[in-house]
Amino acid sequence: MNLQKAIETLPQKGFLDLDVPKNIDLVKEINRLRQEKNAVILAHYYQVAEIQDIADFVGDSLALAQAAAKTDADIILFAGVHFMAETAKILNPDKKVLLPDLLAGCSLAESAPREQFEAFKKQHPDHVVVSYVNTSADIKALTDIVCTSSNAEKIINSIPKDKKIIFAPDKNLGSYLIKKTGRDMLLWDGACEVHEEFSLEKILALKAEYPEAKIIAHPESRDYILNIADYIGSTSGLLKYVQNSDAKAFIIATESGILHKMAQIAPDKILIPAPPQHDETGCACAECPYMKRNTLEKIYLALNYELPEVNVEEELRKKALVSIERMLELS
Ligand code: 13P
Ligand code: SF4
Repeated sequence: MNLQKAIETLPQKGFLDLDVPKNIDLVKEINRLRQEKNAVILAHYYQVAEIQDIADFVGDSLALAQAAAKTDADIILFAGVHFMAETAKILNPDKKVLLPDLLAGCSLAESAPREQFEAFKKQHPDHVVVSYVNTSADIKALTDIVCTSSNAEKIINSIPKDKKIIFAPDKNLGSYLIKKTGRDMLLWDGACEVHEEFSLEKILALKAEYPEAKIIAHPESRDYILNIADYIGSTSGLLKYVQNSDAKAFIIATESGILHKMAQIAPDKILIPAPPQHDETGCACAECPYMKRNTLEKIYLALNYELPEVNVEEELRKKALVSIERMLELS
């Protein structure tokens, strides 16, 4: 396919469908392009190992938003999913933000369509709206304060006790926060298709096999998984727990990409991914199909052609920025 045709098919395919020359060293080329173009590569912990290894910065959603807010690069290449790149663009209207594959979405973000959410908000005009960062710019523009799983408790606790709260879109994280903060929040009915899939039965079978293992879970998981967890936290929280705990083995209920970083920071520990109910990939682990759309080849093409780019219409950007900045001030 030639470049013109690849650009035309970008909206359907999500990425530039061009052949990458067979004889090139991808990592070397990515390094060259990043230097020439003053680009920074930000990657989430759920990316495949080889992407985490070439990134300038690897982090959780909060740390990535903070890194995006303070970078002086001209180009931000986001090795993550769409809402993350969109957040980076909202914070950096003058920088070029690249997402290697535009179809790297998020089931949670998709579970809150703008029109329905706007109508829901109108029915509860006296509520403060707190939205998880896993939302579209449209939802952020309808939100008072954004949060991530790292700072959600702090953000909820910062809201005066007499105020009513809508929490969107993750009902699992929302229920967990109700228990943690004691606040009676109105929850949007959304969920992450990856974290909802963990099998209680299979996790308990692993626990029987490794009785000394600690079960650790991301709060997007269902309550029956969280109820048996020794520790619940964001991706960075899970990493810190594994690093600092005296335990030798861990059953980890979140996307399996994080095991790469865990193995690097805690090489002596036994890391067991928690299995989903339906094991489509055969890895007995959870894989986010959106996060895993990114590849080194797509990163190379994106940096080379500076496409696909994520843009946000200016009026919408300004509205969405307010709720993100409130979060960053409180974090
Ligand atoms: P973290 O903010 O914990 O990195 O979570 C991001 C995410 O998409 C979880 O599924
Ligand atoms: Fe979205 Fe779930 Fe994938 Fe995270 S793991 S990006 S919440 S679909």
